[in-house]
Amino acid sequence: MATNTIAMKDPRRLPGPKGLPFVGVAFRLLRDPLEVMQSAAREYGDIVRIPVVGGSRILLNHPDYIQQVLIFQQNKFHKSKLSKEATERLLGQGLLISEGDFWRRQRRLAQPAFHRQRIDGYSSTMVECAQEQSGKWSEGETRNIAVEMMELTLEAAVRTLFGTTLPGEAQHVGRAMTCLMRYSLGRARQPIRIPMTWPTPRNRRANREYDFLDSVVYRIISERKAQPNSNHRKDLLSILIAAMDEDGTQMTPKQLRDETMTLLLAGHETTALTLAWTWYLLSRNPMVEKKLHEELGAVLGGRNPELADLGRLPYLHAMIKEVLRLYPPAYLLARTAVAPFSVGGYEFPAGETVLVSQWVLHRDPRYYDDPEAFRPERWLDGLEGRLPPGAYFPFGDGPRRCIGQGFAMLEAALVIGVIAQRFLFRLAPGREVKTEPLVTLRPKHGIWMTIHRV
Ligand code: HEM
Repeated sequence: MATNTIAMKDPRRLPGPKGLPFVGVAFRLLRDPLEVMQSAAREYGDIVRIPVVGGSRILLNHPDYIQQVLIFQQNKFHKSKLSKEATERLLGQGLLISEGDFWRRQRRLAQPAFHRQRIDGYSSTMVECAQEQSGKWSEGETRNIAVEMMELTLEAAVRTLFGTTLPGEAQHVGRAMTCLMRYSLGRARQPIRIPMTWPTPRNRRANREYDFLDSVVYRIISERKAQPNSNHRKDLLSILIAAMDEDGTQMTPKQLRDETMTLLLAGHETTALTLAWTWYLLSRNPMVEKKLHEELGAVLGGRNPELADLGRLPYLHAMIKEVLRLYPPAYLLARTAVAPFSVGGYEFPAGETVLVSQWVLHRDPRYYDDPEAFRPERWLDGLEGRLPPGAYFPFGDGPRRCIGQGFAMLEAALVIGVIAQRFLFRLAPGREVKTEPLVTLRPKHGIWMTIHRV
């Protein structure tokens, strides 16, 4: 096939596993997508057709191709069918999965709540939340640090973005989200699905959790509507409540629910994972932990960090970048083409689904020396400027790039600044840590750690 004067290759001849093992790969992909994607990239190169149950996906492993999909040809793609199906009941038409003009309008509406100045104003609340959460801990006890971080970031998101609190409900919200992620992803991957209305034990549990989260979100919205003149009236939720269409109509209650649920989930989950993986990696890398303590001690001397301190903590920022490299909470982005597109010399029809994976690119030895090692120092000598665009993208790229990047980086730095000066964590004996790639990259059985005072 030819486009202009350049001969395009036939996408049916893409490299990838062939023959009988094909079936094995499809099932392994469900069980261990990280391993399958990484070994496919190693074995077959920058563009690979991977079989899945009932079809195939195109895995792109080159920074240029990633840029093609996320930036240069982004208008030819929608979020993938699987990611929509896995999240639709929970997130509805919220920012994360809506498309087209509707998405553009909602993004424009939400953007002011994420401007630098407004986010900086959240810093004292973030520090308070870190202090309150760590105030519950005592020397020598063992806790699931992943749950602790979820509670902390959930409270911070609810206070800063919605101007309210979730007394006593944070744990249940965390449990409900984990349950629903497993349930909905499992469902979306099944070729034949039992209707959700059938009273199987799994459906009943999932429906209870959906109802619980709905009730939390509707309560947050009604509380906010009941106090329109409070100090928080410039928070994200108030902006959304007040938002009018050009024709003067407000968002429907369902639209407001979808955006609030999306921000509730996206606003805490990934940052909590970043923090949880941070404590895990620090416990396994005492030299890094020591350097971090030295920097925090020299700049803060035991007091809580403030916004003005952050510019003087280069090692802390490098370490957060390194955590996001090795354990990117968003480890895979999937897009389905709504128009023909070309990548790597191949021309593809509409309907193909492409995958780009932070997990794979961030561990590619072509871009990172000793890629499996946790070495924050690599970011201190201008690596980011030398990397080809598309080789490091923990927050995605292009128009659908994370709206909360500044929020997340600020929160991570402040929380680590507060907690690392008071506590250190060691993996509890007999507990292992395994990754569980759901919608986000989670620790499968949590991260159980013994807490020690510094
Ligand atoms: C370390 C923490 C975070 C990571 C790694 C992360 C990662 C990402 C990524 C990769 C995307 C793009 C998804 C895609 O292209 O399909 C995204 C989108 C998004 N993120 Fe984040 N995120 C983080 C924190 C946050 C926070 C704190 C918020 C809100 C306060 C947030 C809200 C959103 C929203 C609303 C979108 C959808 C944006 C759109 O499509 O217009 N995220 N995030």
